[in-house]
Amino acid sequence: MTPANLALDGRIVLVAGAGGDLGAVAAEACASAGATVILLGRTLAKLEASYDRIVQRGGPVPLLAPMDLAAATPEQFGAITASIESQFGALHGLIHCAAHMDYLGPLRDVTDNQWSQALDVNLSGAFRLTRSLLPLLTASEAAAAVFVTDTEAERRRGYWGPYAVAKAGLEAFARILADEYGSAGSLRVNLFAPGPIGTRLRRKAFPAEAAANPAALAPYFIDLMRSDSPYANGVRVAPASGQPSVIEENF
Ligand SMILES: NC(=O)c1ccc[n+]([C@@H]2O[C@H](COP(=O)([O-])OP(=O)(O)OC[C@H]3O[C@@H](n4cnc5c(N)ncnc54)[C@H](OP(=O)(O)O)[C@@H]3O)[C@@H](O)[C@H]2O)c1
Repeated sequence: MTPANLALDGRIVLVAGAGGDLGAVAAEACASAGATVILLGRTLAKLEASYDRIVQRGGPVPLLAPMDLAAATPEQFGAITASIESQFGALHGLIHCAAHMDYLGPLRDVTDNQWSQALDVNLSGAFRLTRSLLPLLTASEAAAAVFVTDTEAERRRGYWGPYAVAKAGLEAFARILADEYGSAGSLRVNLFAPGPIGTRLRRKAFPAEAAANPAALAPYFIDLMRSDSPYANGVRVAPASGQPSVIEENF
């Protein structure tokens, strides 16, 4: 039996937004469990910092994949997919953590650029990246895709702007994907709603809040990615604040 701490031994996992606070936790958790991670994100220096931590801890050497999800061309998505296929021959996991939120306020004041950026990164970027990787994912053993969402997707409260609209779209996208692939057994698709955590994104909305440390969520990413995952297809995993258990809602 694979030791619990190497539950992802031999698996290849791509983390989009790996330079972010939660994305780095996800990537480094997967690497600590034995996965080779592909660190995809916009800012190379942040990806390199995560790369260095993984290598220093003795994890499998990651692959760096700098990419601006809002501006990437079909050729760039294709190049990442081709590179993973040629170097590893498989992709067992996709964790989509990348997110853009630079506007909180009434919808009437959203600029075209603010709207486009939020939709391009949080929704269309996730779709385009996933579409490109799907052939590789579905050909790999016990593959899983996880999309990090936000409770604001469901609340649909005023002043959360295009970020919440995009997250609602991301949830719809994940649910449809889960329906298309889960029943065929070729890909598990789940949502992960982390709740409030102390990251750069959260501090933009709540600068004075003492939110939870994202590092506490590391075990969830390992469990979501493992081939013997406790999470079946079409589950919205929401760690309950301050509780050791999770709320699991089937789509
Ligand atoms: N923090 C919370 O309380 C909370 C609550 C619910 C859900 N979430 C979700 O958790 C996930 C992780 O966010 P976080 O809280 O860790 O925030 P974060 O630290 O700001 O991370 C967001 C990441 O997305 C990347 N990104 C933004 N625009 C991009 C683009 N155009 N192309 C590629 N990457 C881009 C950022 O890259 P750069 O480093 O280059 O900017 C950053 O690495 C997000 O999906 C967020 O919606 C967070």
